[in-house]
Amino acid sequence: MIGAVALGKNSRIIDVGGGASLLVDRLLDQGYVDVMVADVSEAALGVARTRLGDRGDRVKWLAGDARYLRLPEQVDVWHDRAVFHFLTTETDRHAYLDSLRAALRVGGYVVIATFGLGGPDRCSGLEVERYDADKLSEFLGPEFELVQSLQKQHLTPAGAAQEFTYAVFQRPR
Ligand SMILES: C[S@@+](CC[C@H](N)C(=O)[O-])C[C@H]1O[C@@H](n2cnc3c(N)ncnc32)[C@H](O)[C@@H]1O
Repeated sequence: MIGAVALGKNSRIIDVGGGASLLVDRLLDQGYVDVMVADVSEAALGVARTRLGDRGDRVKWLAGDARYLRLPEQVDVWHDRAVFHFLTTETDRHAYLDSLRAALRVGGYVVIATFGLGGPDRCSGLEVERYDADKLSEFLGPEFELVQSLQKQHLTPAGAAQEFTYAVFQRPR
């Protein structure tokens, strides 16, 4: 999905709550040169950075909370897999939306993945909110136009299937 919306390898991409995930490795593999990973956990960022070795120096690492991110420059693509669904209060969700609005340039894209309506209602001992594309769209409001969505069964390391909703939104010009 990122490849479909990132207009070139210079696109500025942020992986919000990227943690130790391999997405940043894959983006570098594909030649993206302006990648930022933000996570509330410095330890998780450290795992990814150490794993990448020298390549990690090409990435911007930001220890910060998705609810209060204020980036120095706007991004072309905001990616979030499995972070937004942990925000279970209106206050937290709207704080996240304020971060998104501040971070994403007009014309840019949001690629977001959350637990689907048939997914688990808790994860890592925490409550989650579940979404389909319509519910995400309703929350994001008319400032963000739904471009594409799909349901996917995610397999956990233990082999359990979890329903995810993936959706792409554009902030229209
Ligand atoms: C379930 S993991 C998902 C990691 C990665 N996005 C992936 O798909 O593999 C959730 C990540 O979100 C981070 N996180 C949780 N709440 C956050 C917040 N409010 N702001 C930024 N990161 C947060 C956690 O530290 C963790 O790395």
